[in-house]
Amino acid sequence: MNMKIPIIRHSFDEADRENLLKPLESGWLVQGPYVAEFERMFCQFTGAKYAKATTSCTTALHLALVALGIGPGDKVIVPSFTYVASANAVEYTGAEVVLCDIDLRTYNIDVERVRDILENDKGRRIKAVMPVNLFGLSADLVTIKELAEEYGIAVIEDSACGIGASIRGKHSGTFGAVGCFSFHPRKVITTGEGGMLITDDENIASKVSSLRDHGAEKSDLARHKDKSGSLLPDFNDRGYNYRMTDIQGALGVAQMRKAENIIKGRGLVAGRYNESLAGIDKLNIPYVPEGYIHGFQSYVCIYSGGEDINNLTMEKIVKLNRERNLLMEKLEEKGISTRQGTHAVHTLGYYKKKFVFSEMDYPVSFACDRLSITLPLYSDMSDEEFNYVITNITERLA
Ligand SMILES: Cc1ncc(COP(=O)(O)O)c(C=O)c1O
Repeated sequence: MNMKIPIIRHSFDEADRENLLKPLESGWLVQGPYVAEFERMFCQFTGAKYAKATTSCTTALHLALVALGIGPGDKVIVPSFTYVASANAVEYTGAEVVLCDIDLRTYNIDVERVRDILENDKGRRIKAVMPVNLFGLSADLVTIKELAEEYGIAVIEDSACGIGASIRGKHSGTFGAVGCFSFHPRKVITTGEGGMLITDDENIASKVSSLRDHGAEKSDLARHKDKSGSLLPDFNDRGYNYRMTDIQGALGVAQMRKAENIIKGRGLVAGRYNESLAGIDKLNIPYVPEGYIHGFQSYVCIYSGGEDINNLTMEKIVKLNRERNLLMEKLEEKGISTRQGTHAVHTLGYYKKKFVFSEMDYPVSFACDRLSITLPLYSDMSDEEFNYVITNITERLA
């Protein structure tokens, strides 16, 4: 009999449910005490000085760019293999996206290509680079930071998937001027929708605080605390409504309490996948560089069909893509959900049309778009569920 294995299963429990009810009981529903507590816990977890909750990672990225003064006439480097939101956030500001190909082993931005782009930016219009810590693995943030300092540009980490990811003990999101996280249901901890921006810069923090709240000089919670609640504050910037609700904040607080355990559980399942799939030469398992801790927001392999995937031609990518899709279909028939890792931004209609891209302009991203496969992963995956996935993959690929 088929089992039903989802791509992710959340570990909601009584503590989550209890917390969710608390804002309904108190009547404080929007960006109040629970959001403040969630932010405090997020600072403690990541080691950042300031954390500001938002409606999503996309809106956090938008605020980061605005707070850094990026707008029309500027350019921002974004990896070409990332969720479309990274590039869209740049588009919102009127700045231009400069795509950059990735490293096939880590799925993250290729730092040598970043160097080339900066070297050739004769007009000095590039104002920031947005490394993405994809699938829970930090990009090479040490080199990126060095490059950014050399060229005088800002680093904005898209750490949507990066909770639990670190390099030599330093948490993702704390390398750049700003780091942005997501709590979408496909992420390690979730608030339904939701995001968090972290920074050590007091000016950025206070700018973001105001911008997420229409540009208000003072939040409702601060007004309430200092008993000036009856008068509206001044609005010195044209801001946005990117406030997280306290209902989400309350869930976030309950999720943060068990974040460490969830991440540990996911890491254990990922380790079992590594062992069980090591002998299957048609799948390349995720690579973790020395000194890095992978948060395993996703466990993403490359379907190689047993071929050397460096220097893939279009013909080979098309052939292997057919085989990968067939594998995914067969697993789905067995009740096992899989997904392509993410997409190559230059192949998406809007960007393809705007910049007149062709698929092989960013060949590594294109190959990862066509050949990546995300396997089901959740911290409380049972032995029976795990073995079912492995047996079905092995039957098709060994
Ligand atoms: C790399 C990356 N960046 C940004 C986002 C956007 O996050 P959100 O859905 O919270 O806006 C996602 C979400 O999947 C993502 O994977």
